[in-house]
Amino acid sequence: MEFISIKQAMEKGTGQVNIRGWCYRVRNSNKMAFIVLRDSTDIIQCVVEKSKVSEELWNEALKATMECSLEITGEIKKDDRAPTGYEISVSSLKIVGESDSFPITKDQSPEFLLDKRHLWLRSRKMTSILKVRSSVFQAIRKFFNDKGFYEEHSPMFSPTSCEGGSTLFEVKYFDDIMYLTQSWQLYAEAMISALEKIYTISPCFRAEKSKTSRHLSEFWMAETEVAWYNLDDILKNAEDLVAFIVKYVVEHNEEELKFLGQNIEKLKKIKTPFPRITYTKALEILKKDGIKVEWGKDLRTIEEDAIVKHYEKPVIITNYPKKIMAFYKPKDPENPKTALCFDMIAPEGYGEIIGGSERDTDIEEMKKALIAQGEKPEKYEWYFDTRRYGKVPHSGYGLGVERVIAWLCNLDNIKDTIPFPRTMIRRTP
Ligand code: 4AD
Ligand code: MG
Repeated sequence: MEFISIKQAMEKGTGQVNIRGWCYRVRNSNKMAFIVLRDSTDIIQCVVEKSKVSEELWNEALKATMECSLEITGEIKKDDRAPTGYEISVSSLKIVGESDSFPITKDQSPEFLLDKRHLWLRSRKMTSILKVRSSVFQAIRKFFNDKGFYEEHSPMFSPTSCEGGSTLFEVKYFDDIMYLTQSWQLYAEAMISALEKIYTISPCFRAEKSKTSRHLSEFWMAETEVAWYNLDDILKNAEDLVAFIVKYVVEHNEEELKFLGQNIEKLKKIKTPFPRITYTKALEILKKDGIKVEWGKDLRTIEEDAIVKHYEKPVIITNYPKKIMAFYKPKDPENPKTALCFDMIAPEGYGEIIGGSERDTDIEEMKKALIAQGEKPEKYEWYFDTRRYGKVPHSGYGLGVERVIAWLCNLDNIKDTIPFPRTMIRRTP
């Protein structure tokens, strides 16, 4: 038997169809059984009329419970009273997998739904988010592939830190200790001398001790590294990527965005160029809002949120204080207290979605910065070789994929952007 999806069945609109899926809802009277069937594409109401079917079929229909899996054959027709505008009059029905009493009912707490995430994934909310997630990955790949970038990968086991030691996960590695990767960047900087323009989408690991709605301990980062690019070049690439992802998702996921309560017109306005300000200018904006930040202190979430309130698009903040930046971010020769770096902050309080910079090519400067951060420069000797043998100016950035999904899907918590989230306190299922 050939099966079609519920969506294809509704597109067909008339005649006999074979569909299969899971029981989304079921209601019986002594004459009729209404089974709403769900598959990955949609839901549809299926009706079994006792007077029109064999006793065997009627008895099978009565066995259907929420979330059992089923194969159904019947006549489809338009019906405005049905939940999705079509109804199937069932002529054959088979339960493929029975379902015990389903533990998820209405109005359950977010924690309960996280405990039952393996089942809650079937909800229309999670299904919609995961479809958007898939589109975001597709968009990132399309953006870079169309520009001739190579997709490459770095090891997940790393002997050193990239973004500072405080968020490293240690792993026992045979008789030694290694760390789970925080970023592909140091390896990417070696690869550009071969391939020039590269990108990756990869899991990253950070032992974030904060219980915020924006941090995961395992998340996915889309990173790029480009030879010969300066800060201006990489900024242009970063804003083009974000505008491209938004456009791609608006074009491919209108239905899902609507279901999630997102305002599509608002997303359509996310076009380049994005506003650009320096860190110093950001402090002036904050001061006018009555928020005092001492020059040299990093911007915290509340401060980022206060800045983006002034804009409708993502905001690019450049030239953070050199002293508080990762060791590879170079001094700006025109303003040596600051670094040639940037963060991109999403609208509406979704936080930092990109961090990037030019890369320092001065080995001695980097050694000093590493020592100041309590690292051992000897461990980075292989990395310094990239500067010893034909160094070139280069730049790159990393985009937090889940932060972007949270923003596009209008979610209050980053945990809902990934099928099985990992945070300091959430490690199951
Ligand atoms: O700003 P970050 O730390 O930059 C880097 O790691 C660079 N080495 C990237 C590069 O230049 N290749 O991280 C990049 C982005 C952040 O802007 C944020 O969106 C996301 O990764 N991110 C997280 N997302 C979810 N949970 C966390 N714990 C995150 N930490 C960073
Ligand atoms: Mg950052």
